[in-house]
Amino acid sequence: MRMSVIGCGYLGAVHAAAMASIGHEVVGIDVDESKVARLSRGEAPFFEPGLDDLLRSGIADGRLSFSTDMADAVGAEVHFLAVGTPQSSDGDAADLRFVWAAVEGLLPHLRQGDVVAGKSTVPVGTAEEIADRIASAGATLVWNPEFLREGWAVHDTLTPDRIVVGVPDGDAGLRAAGMLRSAYRTAAETDTPFLVTDLATAELVKGAANAFLATKISFINAMAEIADAAGADVTLLAEALGHDGRIGHRYLGSGIGFGGGCLPKDIRAFAARAEALGRGESVGFLREVDAINLRRRDRAVQLVIDALGGRVFGRRVAVLGAAFKPFSDDIRDSPALDVAVRLRGLGADVVVADPAAIDNAEAAHPQLAYARATDDALRDADAVVVVTEWDEYRRDLTPAHAGSLVRQRVVIDGRNCLDAAAWRAAGWTYRGMGRR
Ligand code: UDX
Repeated sequence: MRMSVIGCGYLGAVHAAAMASIGHEVVGIDVDESKVARLSRGEAPFFEPGLDDLLRSGIADGRLSFSTDMADAVGAEVHFLAVGTPQSSDGDAADLRFVWAAVEGLLPHLRQGDVVAGKSTVPVGTAEEIADRIASAGATLVWNPEFLREGWAVHDTLTPDRIVVGVPDGDAGLRAAGMLRSAYRTAAETDTPFLVTDLATAELVKGAANAFLATKISFINAMAEIADAAGADVTLLAEALGHDGRIGHRYLGSGIGFGGGCLPKDIRAFAARAEALGRGESVGFLREVDAINLRRRDRAVQLVIDALGGRVFGRRVAVLGAAFKPFSDDIRDSPALDVAVRLRGLGADVVVADPAAIDNAEAAHPQLAYARATDDALRDADAVVVVTEWDEYRRDLTPAHAGSLVRQRVVIDGRNCLDAAAWRAAGWTYRGMGRR
């Protein structure tokens, strides 16, 4: 099948490469010339395990190309919209400017019978509006949300948990659903659930999924607050809760909370849309989910202050982690970097390390000091704060080695990812987030 993918960020670049890898002929289109140049050379413009290989083989096979010219979408049977929907600068709602620019840019190049598949995360009701514009060109709009996680994007795109396709009523919708089934042929063949819904439901699935995940994380972080007050251990609590099959262990990881380019802005946009629909009270809890999440950052900073005897001014603090999560170089709304910036604001001598995100962090926060090697960040530190649970810190860093470098054996485990007993046994003062 011939396809175009409009927007080549985390979502679009991976989608284009994945579709080419299962045999389709794909052109990825983006307005950013340097991004298109890098992708055309088979280089991922961001850190995403497995993407470089997929890009290179797709380009070498002649099935994958990238362009800045929307006219190159002509001839594709399915056009995926994969542009970003950031938070508006003046509120919580999603900024749909890139979605509309993509739609208007694509319109003159659509042909009768083409299918346009929206993948971007949009407020419910958006697809209905876009559908009219697409229909004016004789094409059909479907909504096909994407659930990929950064760091696992290739895996999640090639072997998704489920495929959701929202279609308009009538024959055109059914035909479009059939085309999407062909597009996702390999996943459909392996019995991946393929759900056909109306447009609004498909849009809602994505917002609701992210709202649920964020709520689950904030739930366990709320329990961490209680555990702190009660002298309990939230990691043992989560372990015990997760064995209940109805609850499960995933997304019960307590610590400094969620960040990134999706969950924070998506729950705000979801709440804003619900309010616009007159149903703000239905998701009022999302405001609380957001507030709990942001309090985690305050808590981590407070633990460092307490551990250093009430004053961080001039004290050297090694911050291990800048990315919003491991296996990513993404620092958008990163709680890790936020903790570093706040400590620096209090006058601490902060040195940040991260296996992948230093360049992005340095560009956004040049006021911070950075270390390429973990050892350099640790040297002479008065306190160590682990804020992204990279294997390099969680698994590879031993308390004995770290202890040989620091000035003071004080560690704050912002992700509850270290073996507290082992660090304590090596003479460290260990503080977790909601741990005794
Ligand atoms: C998320 C959704 O998982 C994905 O389905 C959607 O398409 C986009 O948003 P992503 O932003 O890549 O994906 O990150 P995810 O792995 O979900 O983690 C989000 C944040 O939650 C990270 O900051 C992570 O550190 C944090 N998190 C995750 C926790 O604090 N605890 C957990 O148990 C899990």
